[in-house]
Amino acid sequence: MVFEAPDAESAHERIAQVELAEEDLALDRSLRPKMLKDYIGQQKVKDSLRILVEAAAARGDAVDHILFSGPPGLGKTTLATVVANEMGAHIRTTSGPAIERTGDLAAILTNLEPGDVLFIDEIHRMNRMVEEVLYPALEDFALDIVVGKGPAARSIRLDLPPFTLIGATTRTGLLTGPLRDRFGVSFRLDYYAPEELAQIVVRSAGILDVEIDAEGALEIARRSRGTPRLANRLLKRVRDWAQVEGDGVIDEDTAARALSFFEVDSLGLDAVDNRILDLLCNQFGGRPVGLTTLAAALSEDQDSIEDVYEPFLMQQGLLVRTPKGRTATARAYEHLGQVPPEDL
Ligand SMILES: Nc1ncnc2c1ncn2[C@@H]1O[C@H](COP(=O)(O)OP(=O)(O)O)[C@@H](O)[C@H]1O
Ligand SMILES: [Mg+2]
Repeated sequence: MVFEAPDAESAHERIAQVELAEEDLALDRSLRPKMLKDYIGQQKVKDSLRILVEAAAARGDAVDHILFSGPPGLGKTTLATVVANEMGAHIRTTSGPAIERTGDLAAILTNLEPGDVLFIDEIHRMNRMVEEVLYPALEDFALDIVVGKGPAARSIRLDLPPFTLIGATTRTGLLTGPLRDRFGVSFRLDYYAPEELAQIVVRSAGILDVEIDAEGALEIARRSRGTPRLANRLLKRVRDWAQVEGDGVIDEDTAARALSFFEVDSLGLDAVDNRILDLLCNQFGGRPVGLTTLAAALSEDQDSIEDVYEPFLMQQGLLVRTPKGRTATARAYEHLGQVPPEDL
């Protein structure tokens, strides 16, 4: 009951999962690297994690509490399980919105074994009352509970076993200061380079038993929006296409033809990304557009624009945020096959 699934209806859930279908979740799980040596890219994060884990192991301590942040699909959940595996620890998984009452959290905490990893996904969505119960647990491995009511009420302190909290969030900005301060270390995951994504595609192809060459993998990688989850999803779709339209082997030409068939463009932008660029370049005539206006015009919620779409468009130099609003860059016009206005 404590580990109940988050409310699937919530709009936020949709964002965090970016419309993750059952099928995609199963794919995620089957392709998830288990140890640091299998985890591709994010070299600095891996180096720091290795030191953290080895130092804690040598001291016989639990690893410091860790926060992972970054856009969906970059490997936050994967890293949490990798850290637990490297520690040889059990991982308990829950999410911010799933912990509705303080009692739910108390039940989770009192069931932890020494050295366990507690993973809280979407930790920025935990409610404040629950969050306050977490503070002493993180700092002193203690749980303060109030027994009795009215004047007879008193607070007793329960000791908890040492454990490691790993939090994941798409939005560090939404985390309260006190919670953020209680993480010993915090890592921000960045979009992956095409060469790294190509390695991920080759590894996944091996697991899925798909034949692919280096150029085919790189072609999929280039169009994967810097995101491993997307790279894996595209690999699966290209495999299907290659089976039906080709000989099942994925080379550069097959990958390119399959991806055009699925309307994945040369930068990996999807329909929403392209609509954002079209709105900024054309419908709003190049003027800066506020977030609320953009959200209304797209029928998307503001959070998914800020969490999912904008970070990549900015990273690609297609969109800039100015004090007056969002504007498209010259590169955005070029991507749409248009001539940029002279003043850009
Ligand atoms: N560095 C990586 N190396 C290999 N595969 C990765 C890597 N990062 C992510 N993946 C793959 O991408 C999928 C999505 O990663 P996940 O950890 O669920 O992302 P997040 O929790 O940040 O949304 C995983 O199933 C995993 O297979
Ligand atoms: Mg995740």
